[in-house]
Amino acid sequence: MIEARGLSKVFGTAWALRELDLVVAQGELVALLGANGAGKTTTINLFLGFLQPSSGVALVNGQDVHKAPLASKRELAYIPEQVALYPMLTGLENLEFFTALAGHTDYTKAQLGEFLERAGLAPAAIERRAGTYSKGMRQKVGIAAAMAKRATTFLLDEPLSGLDPKAANEFSTTLRNLKHEGAAILMATHDIFRAKEVASRIGMMKAGRLVDQIDSASLGHAELEAVYLEHMRDDAATVTARAS
Ligand SMILES: Nc1ncnc2c1ncn2[C@@H]1O[C@H](COP(=O)(O)OP(=O)(O)OP(=O)(O)O)[C@@H](O)[C@H]1O
Ligand SMILES: [Mg+2]
Repeated sequence: MIEARGLSKVFGTAWALRELDLVVAQGELVALLGANGAGKTTTINLFLGFLQPSSGVALVNGQDVHKAPLASKRELAYIPEQVALYPMLTGLENLEFFTALAGHTDYTKAQLGEFLERAGLAPAAIERRAGTYSKGMRQKVGIAAAMAKRATTFLLDEPLSGLDPKAANEFSTTLRNLKHEGAAILMATHDIFRAKEVASRIGMMKAGRLVDQIDSASLGHAELEAVYLEHMRDDAATVTARAS
């Protein structure tokens, strides 16, 4: 579970995140939408322990990220916008390296290959050097590493950006599968369409505040976009909840 209670971050005099209360339960995927600078990455970085909260708490699987940095990360996987791999190693060798770092040295090559296939990497690519991979292929190695770590909780910061429609579709399917297997997933994205496809709930952020949370099954794509644009209007700064 991912949980924020009154979580805030101030840089200088500016609130990057203001009193966030949020729960992402196991089996749920929450997508955070919001303009550039709305506080999405700040939120994720607070859950990762990369930033210290100015006030409030960030909890991962019941552990306070700030007080228990190691315990909170044990079952946590982070997938950034750009997954960095060693270019001279194959996809399989990269996965072997990252899973060993995460403490899993017991996987056979066949098992590691299965994780890569489940993440959607074409079998022919598994033994190729990662330096020849496209962005989507690198993202898939990141997903495989998260699965091999047996992560139950996922933080994703714009994992879909720059993926072609087919790769984004495959990535979305993988995320839905992880959700159905019981993972708790928090994903920052600018892609309203994909957010609607994969998320249980959509959170809308504006100027450091979570201004709305919407059950993604309750609205169509066009309605969702209309609600988003309404929140992002310059004069809608004081909107804190949707009237419904
Ligand atoms: N290290 C920092 N020092 C000072 N200000 C920061 C720092 N990190 C973020 N901010 C500020 O906090 C606010 C929120 O930034 P954040 O990166 O969380 O936005 P975001 O929603 O992820 O935006 P984007 O969609 O562009 O990725 C912005 O005003 C940003 O300038
Ligand atoms: Mg960001």
